[in-house]
Amino acid sequence: MVVTHPTTGEQLSIGIDVVSVPRLRTALENAEQCGCDFIMAPLVHPRYERVFTQGQSWCHEGSALVRVSSAASDNGCAAIVRDEPLTRSDLELSSSEWMSGVIGKVSPWIRLESPNDYFRENSEMAFRQEISLASHLSLRAIIINAPTSGSAANFSRSMNSALSSLRHVQMWIRIPATYPAVNGKSDIRDPWDVWNTIRNMCDSHPNLGIVLEIGENLPAKNELERWIAEPVKILAVSTNAFVLNKVGYPVLLKKHQDFVKIMFKYGMLFAITGRGSSARLRGAEGYRQCVQYIAHLFGKQPPSTESEAFEAPFRDYLQAPLQPLADDLESQTYETFEKDPVKYQKYREAIALYLSEKVGSSDRIVVMVLGAGRGPLVKAALAASADTQVPIDVFAVEKNPNAVVTLENLRLENEWSNVSVIHCDMRHWEAPARADLVVSELLGSFGDNELSPECLDGATKYLKPDAVSIPQSYASFLAPLASTKLHNEVRAYGDTQQNFETPYVVSIHRGRILAEPQEVFRFSHPNRSPHPDNTRFKTLEFKILEANMVHGLAGYFEAQLYMDVVISINPPTATTGMFSWFPFYIPIRNPVYVPKESTCQVQMWRKASPGRVWYEWAVTRPAITPVHNPNGRSYWMGL
Ligand SMILES: C[S@@+](CC[C@H](N)C(=O)[O-])C[C@H]1O[C@@H](n2cnc3c(N)ncnc32)[C@H](O)[C@@H]1O
Repeated sequence: MVVTHPTTGEQLSIGIDVVSVPRLRTALENAEQCGCDFIMAPLVHPRYERVFTQGQSWCHEGSALVRVSSAASDNGCAAIVRDEPLTRSDLELSSSEWMSGVIGKVSPWIRLESPNDYFRENSEMAFRQEISLASHLSLRAIIINAPTSGSAANFSRSMNSALSSLRHVQMWIRIPATYPAVNGKSDIRDPWDVWNTIRNMCDSHPNLGIVLEIGENLPAKNELERWIAEPVKILAVSTNAFVLNKVGYPVLLKKHQDFVKIMFKYGMLFAITGRGSSARLRGAEGYRQCVQYIAHLFGKQPPSTESEAFEAPFRDYLQAPLQPLADDLESQTYETFEKDPVKYQKYREAIALYLSEKVGSSDRIVVMVLGAGRGPLVKAALAASADTQVPIDVFAVEKNPNAVVTLENLRLENEWSNVSVIHCDMRHWEAPARADLVVSELLGSFGDNELSPECLDGATKYLKPDAVSIPQSYASFLAPLASTKLHNEVRAYGDTQQNFETPYVVSIHRGRILAEPQEVFRFSHPNRSPHPDNTRFKTLEFKILEANMVHGLAGYFEAQLYMDVVISINPPTATTGMFSWFPFYIPIRNPVYVPKESTCQVQMWRKASPGRVWYEWAVTRPAITPVHNPNGRSYWMGL
């Protein structure tokens, strides 16, 4: 049974981790009775340790080793021929039941990381046998325990080899959020580091996932939240993580609850695992109550906000940044902008604040809306004039001929006698009057990336000496970003230099910024310099708290519209409810490992030539990457 959220309709799938399965169908039925719709089950009896030698296969029978085959198969793994089959028949379930109801587990005795040659090679052969079976059964995934000791090198090589040979079956590594204490010392190794080694050696294969297990003890919040940026497929909650409430029902403590609630947002599977510290939690009834509790927590999740609902279909979906100067935007793009419930309200507030300073002025105020689109800022200016009772004359300047048609219709329909529609590039307009106020919204996710500085500089010539620009200034912000998902999305377009030297606009979901964003490039308007220079260079240093991989940079902007009226998509200051802009993702082709408590140094340039503007970027600490996008070879904005 899949749990459905009572108000949002979102779904949660919960499963049970079973240790031994005498009858598969019975195990599935029991799981269903507990409210679950899948089981994590061993494919071969967990204690059936096969022993392979060259061209032969042996098995333990009691304490004796019995030879069972003399024929080696193609992959070097000897086929087991003996009276008893290797495991149960695939006929026990239908194909669709195998696919939806069972996630396979590799036998726990298999140790691909063993330093003992004999045992390691034997483990490899048994491993190949089991993944071949998983593939035969068309399982969606097979789970293997992460190495607990020694080097993860041979484990990773075996995984990589399996991933490249399996077409459909995913390989999920089971890893605890905290390693159990050994000799009274806990956290002898950082589980994320173990995962990171495997992931890197498998070249971040898209079919590699994680089963993250949480038990009684959770690591610090920073350490724990690193998993958000990783491909966690199942959150396995151990019965040890539960405590009994006053009436004897299992519940999670606050810290566990908080983490579980965060993970609900990432659409993963959940599972109940372990034997339970208390007798009350053992057996089917204990499991059923744990499942019910997780379902209850899920049902209590608050429904999505308006902006979350807007973002949901775009999560982690890479889009090319708009270039409204070089291209003409389409009607549906304007329509999406105009749905923002907050942005135009902020502009209206800012314009009204400016106009309120002009109350009593004998002259009509000349307002130029530069890049008027289909008119929302013209409407905001007229509304602000009505709010303040300050009369204005508006020039709506727009270079997109199709948006001009909308503006002219609006003028006629609304009898806007004080509005003139000008079809022109603002940089080349011979204005009939001088402006008191210019209002524009030429901002991209990274602030200046839609070339607002260059466009507004071109308009300075028709401003009065004391003219004001809304926005008065804006700045871009950057933070190092960990996101295997986004890096893999870029790779899915083709692992080319060009794709990794292009910024994207994306609603970042499976990703985590590793430090608070810092200001990069600031622009203030009007810029009355006779030769405005909009090129920039900035070095940024970020303090990294926990070891991680930097897969790129997340970019944001903040804009001061007028005085204290601000719009922002920078997480610490983000304007609530405004959804016109998703963040910028600037990839780094070869992700950089940043150790715990290290410094990540980033270099960022804004460069220009007569027809183009572009960014170049590099990481220079703790490792040095090549400069991305030299001379704008892969990505530029056309002037
Ligand atoms: C991001 S859209 C904003 C449109 C509208 N103000 C809104 O908020 O919905 C920017 C608009 O500026 C126009 N634009 C960009 N550069 C321009 C230029 N140099 N001269 C005139 N219009 C320009 C584009 O065609 C586009 O309509």
